[in-house]
Amino acid sequence: MTRTYNAGVKSWDVVIIGAGIIGLSLAISLRKQRLRVLVVERGEPGREASYAAAGMLVGSGTEMPPAVKPLAAESARMYPEFAHELEDESGLKVDLREQGTILISCDSAFPDSAEPISRERLRSLEPELIVASSAAYISERSVDPRALTAAAFKAARHREVDISSGSEVKGLLTSGDRVNGVQTDKTSYSAGIVVNCAGAWAGCIAAQKFPVRPVKGQMLAVVGGPHLEHVVRADNVYLVPRSDGRIVIGSTLEDAGYNKQTDVSTIQRLLQAARELVPELAKTKVHDDWAGLRPGTPDELPILGETRTTGYFIASGHYRDGILLAPITAEIMTGLILGKSGTHDVGAFTPRRFLGLEQ
Ligand code: GLY
Repeated sequence: MTRTYNAGVKSWDVVIIGAGIIGLSLAISLRKQRLRVLVVERGEPGREASYAAAGMLVGSGTEMPPAVKPLAAESARMYPEFAHELEDESGLKVDLREQGTILISCDSAFPDSAEPISRERLRSLEPELIVASSAAYISERSVDPRALTAAAFKAARHREVDISSGSEVKGLLTSGDRVNGVQTDKTSYSAGIVVNCAGAWAGCIAAQKFPVRPVKGQMLAVVGGPHLEHVVRADNVYLVPRSDGRIVIGSTLEDAGYNKQTDVSTIQRLLQAARELVPELAKTKVHDDWAGLRPGTPDELPILGETRTTGYFIASGHYRDGILLAPITAEIMTGLILGKSGTHDVGAFTPRRFLGLEQ
């Protein structure tokens, strides 16, 4: 849907750049505070990283930077309410699964909250899984990010968030050191607050080009094979079952610019790694494969806060955890935009840490 608003007729309190899960969740949160919100999306809403994501709600990963862990844990705790509210408001299901996750590791580097499990217990939990290394159970949920983003889009529309898709923001409108809107390739939109939620494209918007880079992940989904109850996360591959029988298998971490093509050998390698864990996957068919672009930052931390242009905020750089961090990001950013002091220490995420590093 492409809709362009006449800036002379309609005005907004906030323009959000990017209709992925971060932008849409924030739009809904700001509407709850009665702000008038426009989301400007360069392509189709929810079709970039939010569409490509696996949807593992990893609340306590050992690979996660320490500064992100409190946010991840809190966002994981918020998820059931977040997901159910989107379901209620959209009438769409988001496939939030509570079955938990089996972790498999050669060096047993499990988070403290994981419970090591014996071979026998593993066999009863997930009979198709053949594992030579150590295993542990952790009560992490998963969600279907495509369904979640579709629900967020519908819920945002239901709450009268305006959405302009197919318009690329080329730059900011400013007056002195204040933002007062955005300039797209077609028109301009005025608002006293602008929030950059453009994911891997967040660094492309003049005038402050944040060092966000795309980190490509190739993935596939298989159908018609064994039943998996749990998410399975190993050192070199993960498997995420959906309730409709698909199993999503991922992923790579590639520095390939904005190239979203998949290659046969990589998809086959992922499938082979998955088959080593679940040999019955040999009977499945590849349903589809795809690649998404995660928004990576030099320190692997999100960028959350007001920039050096008054009224211009950024919420990007969520790297591998954008789906998980959507509810907490919406809460934090709403607090920052309204000037309310929040309970989370977001000092580590300030955009100002990149002052002087912008291109
Ligand atoms: N969050 C899963 C991934 O980045 O591959």
